[in-house]
Amino acid sequence: MPFQLETSRLRLVPLSAVNGPDLAAVYSDPDVARHIGAERLTFDETVAQVGRFVEVWQKWGYGQAAVIEKATNAFIGRVGLHPWTDWNEVELGWVIARSHQRKGFATEAGRVWIDWASEHLPDDYLISVIHPDNTASISTAIKLGFDFARDDETPWNPVVVYRRRLGAH
Ligand SMILES: CC(C)(COP(=O)(O)OP(=O)(O)OC[C@H]1O[C@@H](n2cnc3c(N)ncnc32)[C@H](O)[C@@H]1OP(=O)(O)O)[C@@H](O)C(=O)NCCC(=O)NCCS
Repeated sequence: MPFQLETSRLRLVPLSAVNGPDLAAVYSDPDVARHIGAERLTFDETVAQVGRFVEVWQKWGYGQAAVIEKATNAFIGRVGLHPWTDWNEVELGWVIARSHQRKGFATEAGRVWIDWASEHLPDDYLISVIHPDNTASISTAIKLGFDFARDDETPWNPVVVYRRRLGAH
């Protein structure tokens, strides 16, 4: 049975090469791109990023999911897990198309991933790695039960790291 997660409004399936153009369209909005460094990504680089997400699925058995709105069958973003191997932590990350923001979709997709991770990962918690100015993402993390854990840095920028215990609802 292929990997799939489902919520009342959404279907989440592993992001794959077919989603490259969909994701590039989502990233083409500067308000979506600016906190995730995607304004630096050309179309081809976005397609290459999707290739790296596919490799994560192959290696780890989890990854970024294409978020499909059941009512329309539209691709509305990506939500899923990513391993930060240097930190030995797993991130839950989210990107939702501007047209579909503020409708609870990131929260809905995030919740089903937290349930999945509670059941299938050995980790005690998930992290969310967020640009300090990204209030929408910080609010989403808090709504999903994450708490501030630390200030940190990625190779690209300073970040705040939020943490959510697994298994706790
Ligand atoms: C962050 C993001 C994924 C949130 O997606 P979303 O589907 O709109 O989120 P939700 O509708 O589930 O909202 C969750 C909470 O976040 C807060 N929130 C969401 N968007 C917000 C905004 N633009 N401004 C302020 N708060 C916001 C609200 O508190 C909201 O809860 P509420 O509507 O009950 O008050 C979306 O804004 C996005 O894709 N941003 C660009 C990419 C990005 O920054 N990704 C995260 C990288 S760390």
